[in-house]
Amino acid sequence: MRMKEKAISKLAIMGGTFDPIHIGHLVTAEEVRHEFNIDEVLFVPTGHPPHKSNMNMTTSEHRYLMTVLATAANAHFKVSRLEIDREGVTYTIDTVKELKKIYGKQVTIYFITGADAIHKILTWKESEELLQICEFVAVTRPGYNKQELLGQIEELNRNYQSSIHFLEVPALAISSSNIRERIHNMRPIKYLVPEEVENYIKKYNLYEYKICLTAKEREQMCNYVASKMSPKRYAHTRGVIEMALEFGNIYKISCDEVFIAALFHDVAKELPQDEKHAVCAKYAIELDTFEARHIHLAHGKIGAAILEHEWGIHKPSILDSVRYHTVGREGMCDLEKIIYLADMTEEGRSPYKGKEQIKHLALYDLNRAMYKALYSSYSYVTNILKQEIHPVTHKLLEYYKQYDL
Ligand SMILES: [Fe+2]
Ligand SMILES: [Fe+2]
Repeated sequence: MRMKEKAISKLAIMGGTFDPIHIGHLVTAEEVRHEFNIDEVLFVPTGHPPHKSNMNMTTSEHRYLMTVLATAANAHFKVSRLEIDREGVTYTIDTVKELKKIYGKQVTIYFITGADAIHKILTWKESEELLQICEFVAVTRPGYNKQELLGQIEELNRNYQSSIHFLEVPALAISSSNIRERIHNMRPIKYLVPEEVENYIKKYNLYEYKICLTAKEREQMCNYVASKMSPKRYAHTRGVIEMALEFGNIYKISCDEVFIAALFHDVAKELPQDEKHAVCAKYAIELDTFEARHIHLAHGKIGAAILEHEWGIHKPSILDSVRYHTVGREGMCDLEKIIYLADMTEEGRSPYKGKEQIKHLALYDLNRAMYKALYSSYSYVTNILKQEIHPVTHKLLEYYKQYDL
């Protein structure tokens, strides 16, 4: 129960996954509080979609408790369970309305959000109403293209009579994914997160990337992926898993990691176009100009976002294998090459010139196989489909040429 000493007139909402919370969040919240004379900053950790299992992900409870620990010393900071106690997807509009009910009509709500979100705010649920019932504080790290953002804010404020403010926060150069990455690479996180949070992470061994699936978790993942695609695409996916496991075994890569990457590589391929755009907006996926023109090529990036945000898989090699399996990228790790090659050589894929050779090469030299595979894709796209090739694939082909023995 809330203890109300006096009615609050200005409330700031700081939403986020807080996975984990870090000083960038805290400095931002404090900066907003000071700048706008806020009475209370309410941290609202986001919930998890119900289909998420608990493996390799930080449960809501851990994220909530870390947020409580991190904010305990500031009398103006509070943490809300509103979204983590709610099942399913929570929309900002629902949270804002709920908080208005709790805090009373007199309260002015300032919703703190990243600048990227402002670009897409009109795609949010009931965005026009949202822009009326609360004010926004768009925070950016230094170096962000401020001019463009300010122009957009001005336009929104003019067209929707909204109150969107802008604030630059230097500490935002830190990110949660960066913290997780540092833990994974055994680098220190001291002073990047409050000491209590650091101790909590150590105590519960959070963010360590030992992936070990139970039979039930595998089944849950398979059911989810199967529900997102046609039986034909799922059969292809199973073929990729089988092939990738064979390659992975040779290159000593954990079967569970190979399994997850192969299973999810095409999870977004058959999503309807508008859903693809919605996921891009929701997770601020950046598409290059080529992908923006050929949205089907973005299914790797979209799939990786689903795997990360909805299944809590943070291991970079797995995410990159899904993310870049469409066009490849410079500096691919072995798992990325394996997924790329298994995708091209799985049993169910119709035979094409060079398929058997690529498969054979992949069993003892991934780089040689990559050259043949890239060359084959290149020829197919340019000669058969008569389409343009992604510039990255083109560059990679040049790079892997040295392995054409
Ligand atoms: Fe694909
Ligand atoms: Fe595929």
